[in-house]
Amino acid sequence: MASGRIVGAVEDHWTVGQVAELADVTVRTLHHYDAVGLVRPSARTPAGYRAYAAGDVERLRQVLAYRRLGFGLREIAELVADPHTDAVAHLRRLRGLLLERRDRADAMVAAIDRELTARARGVTVSPEEQLEMVGPRLYDAIGGAYTATRRTEPRIAARIWDALGDARTVLNVGAGTGSYEPTHLDVTAVEPSAVMRGQRPAGAAPCVAAAAERLPFGDGVFDAAMAVSTVHHWGDPIAGLREMRRVARRVVVLTFDTDQPGWQGRFWLTRDYLPEFADVLSGFPSLAGMADALGARAEPVPVPWDCADGLFEAYWRRPTAYLEKRVRRAMSVWTRVGEEAEQRAVRGLRDDLDSGRWAERNGELTTLDTADLGLRLLIT
Ligand SMILES: C[S@@+](CC[C@H](N)C(=O)[O-])C[C@H]1O[C@@H](n2cnc3c(N)ncnc32)[C@H](O)[C@@H]1O
Repeated sequence: MASGRIVGAVEDHWTVGQVAELADVTVRTLHHYDAVGLVRPSARTPAGYRAYAAGDVERLRQVLAYRRLGFGLREIAELVADPHTDAVAHLRRLRGLLLERRDRADAMVAAIDRELTARARGVTVSPEEQLEMVGPRLYDAIGGAYTATRRTEPRIAARIWDALGDARTVLNVGAGTGSYEPTHLDVTAVEPSAVMRGQRPAGAAPCVAAAAERLPFGDGVFDAAMAVSTVHHWGDPIAGLREMRRVARRVVVLTFDTDQPGWQGRFWLTRDYLPEFADVLSGFPSLAGMADALGARAEPVPVPWDCADGLFEAYWRRPTAYLEKRVRRAMSVWTRVGEEAEQRAVRGLRDDLDSGRWAERNGELTTLDTADLGLRLLIT
């Protein structure tokens, strides 16, 4: 919105009618959002009419954008109330969801074109081929962001489950879509993102909407608490780790080691193509600091060459995977470094793969089955 208006004597506010017109929604809709607490105009004109401040308008924009993406009002209420998601994070998420939708639409158009061509040539299109366009196989092919490539890697899971020892009740913090949850144990999940919670499979462990820094559980109520590939997302990692320690007798955390000097050079991707990765982790606590907060020891977790979980380091011996958008979209690093850095890194990698330069520099990797790329398991 270009500039503030004066509504009665209330400066920099917009009336409900103005907002309705600008957003192309009815006044009734805005009244309903107010009544259910979704978007409450923060002021009233002297005559008692609703007056929207810039912050109210920003929140309305988020609500309407999620609505247009098909989210339900209850889900949206949780999304916009999340104190860990600021305006920029909402914009990034909305952008990702829209791009995913665009990819899906592109793929459907391509499938329709293929079928039209086939039909024009008198070729029979099988029921399987027809359903491919609307079914999960297409979605697999174009990627549903996280769930497209992120799943439990059994060899890493074995390390985590082993570290849980004889625990029977386990809290999984930053649980996402449920990877690495030990199905043989009594698991409670904690996940602040409604988008991630919404992607948990049917039958997954019950999931509480909360953040690591403030776990809604009493002291020592779980045998163990685990956190996998999530601590670097927390607003206050040390506070979150202390919370895990408070609610559980044992803590197991899969995280990343930035303590060794030159750690950025450990992985060719960050060394040669994406040095911005270091910025993403600036401000992330040292491994020693995290181990200290927990009273934990750290063990290296090598990444297998054919790692099933599409985490950032997963494709160290399969470099062409990083050229695939669906692979990158399931790794938050790429979103965090921004599109420019992403495009530059991908271009550089593609050129080096084509010219043989990547192979020249990294050829010896083909002889390795696992690589230590900085993943560490903290175990109390
Ligand atoms: C890379 S995913 C990992 C998910 C899952 N543990 C796995 O291994 O697939 C990181 C998760 O951390 C969650 N997260 C972000 N901030 C958090 C916080 N403050 N407390 C707990 N989880 C958080 C995100 O919503 C996301 O689901």
